[in-house]
Amino acid sequence: MSQFQENKVAPAEGKLAVLLPGMGAVATTFIAGVEASRRDLGKPIGSLTQMAHIRLGKRSEKRWQMIKDFVPLARLSDLVFGGWDPIPDDAYTAAAKARVLGPELLAPLKEFLSGIKPMPAVFDHAWVKRLEGRNVKTGTKRELANQLVQDIRAFMDKNKCSRAVMVWCASTEAYQEPGPAHQSLAAFERALDANDPSIAPSQIYAYAAISTGVPYLNGAPNLSADFPAMIELAEKKGVAIGGKDFKTGQTLMKTIIAPGLKARMLGMEGWFSTNILGNRDGEVLDEPANFKTKEVSKLSVLEQILEPERYPELYKDLQHKVSIHYYKPRGDNKEGWDNIDIVGWMGYPMQIKVNFLCRDSILAAPIVLDLALFGDLAARAGMKGIQEWLSFYFKSPQHAPSVYPEHDLFVQKVRLENNLRYLMGEELINYLGSDYTNE
Ligand SMILES: NC(=O)c1ccc[n+]([C@@H]2O[C@H](COP(=O)([O-])OP(=O)(O)OC[C@H]3O[C@@H](n4cnc5c(N)ncnc54)[C@H](O)[C@@H]3O)[C@@H](O)[C@H]2O)c1
Repeated sequence: MSQFQENKVAPAEGKLAVLLPGMGAVATTFIAGVEASRRDLGKPIGSLTQMAHIRLGKRSEKRWQMIKDFVPLARLSDLVFGGWDPIPDDAYTAAAKARVLGPELLAPLKEFLSGIKPMPAVFDHAWVKRLEGRNVKTGTKRELANQLVQDIRAFMDKNKCSRAVMVWCASTEAYQEPGPAHQSLAAFERALDANDPSIAPSQIYAYAAISTGVPYLNGAPNLSADFPAMIELAEKKGVAIGGKDFKTGQTLMKTIIAPGLKARMLGMEGWFSTNILGNRDGEVLDEPANFKTKEVSKLSVLEQILEPERYPELYKDLQHKVSIHYYKPRGDNKEGWDNIDIVGWMGYPMQIKVNFLCRDSILAAPIVLDLALFGDLAARAGMKGIQEWLSFYFKSPQHAPSVYPEHDLFVQKVRLENNLRYLMGEELINYLGSDYTNE
């Protein structure tokens, strides 16, 4: 048995509100998939909370458990979905327009999905130039924040939810560096009162959620809860936050392949990535200010994994290029091409080509589910502030200012699993294995 104390995790009793700013392709693929799983019409593939086992104790103990049986997670049957969108389509119409899931899956869910209608959004065209919306709230930024708080409370009351979690699934906002308004909670609140233009809509959602005690996870790369004011608010309110930018597609591949090449001390001269994508996300990202937000998020990954400053002979000249092209015929079925120029023994060059025909929202939906369930677990375990153990799910993991972000998918997985073991008082696994070798 473990020498660790089991931490106190409140049971997952009652209903959990899963609140989604943005009810487009990702959000509706997620909602429809959960409902299909509940009715046994499909499997939640890609979700660790639903499908993965975790090893407990030493290898010789042969103890494995499903994660969902090991930690007290909300059950799928207890999830209730709500959201906001400037486009007034209900979840069925939005899912049908997104064309991620086919009619064979959507038709039996029509009544359920049609009943999920987006609440009027906090939306500002200035931050997402390619979208127009009419399902929009009005008021000053402070009033908008108050309206969102009201929405959260009213939704929870109406649906008899004991807890809530918010996952940002809305469009990527224009690129922004933190400014004076973001440096402290006091400055942010003053800026809210002054209707400061540097406060983006996503920040108003994050503020409303965290102020109400609702964990906030950011699935897009924009500045939303990753600045000092929001971290201060999360600490003060004892609320879990995490982000940012769901790790799917090309970046997922990067964080699988690059750690492997680095582990074998193979050099790299260049990594050229390009994509074609034809969904609304692709259209929004066709705007340079919005693409810049995504580009920064995508580019950060290789630098941290390869550590060119520590290994200049291997990586100092690395050229990393990323582009996304909006190409309508492809819809949500993105195609990514990667050319990786690697270098081996005596400097001999080699190449790896990856052609990934993926489905963006199919890869993102299970991440939304896991983040909602783990965000809620963190809340019940009293974990506040940045949840670095959820880095596994993000392209640009939010991290403490004193450390660098961890991008290696396998290190991220060990961290996530050890966090679960720690919460449940199980021994942490360090893979030393000396017990067996000394037998
Ligand atoms: N699918 C993936 O693989 C993936 C990976 C990483 C990140 N993301 C991010 O997830 C987000 C959602 O992607 P998607 O494919 O569902 O896009 P989408 O365009 O289909 O949906 C986004 C929705 O957000 C709405 N929206 C925009 N601003 C809003 C606001 N202020 N409040 C509420 N709603 C707002 C839009 O009207 C739209 O319906 C995007 O930011 C995308 O960059 C997606």
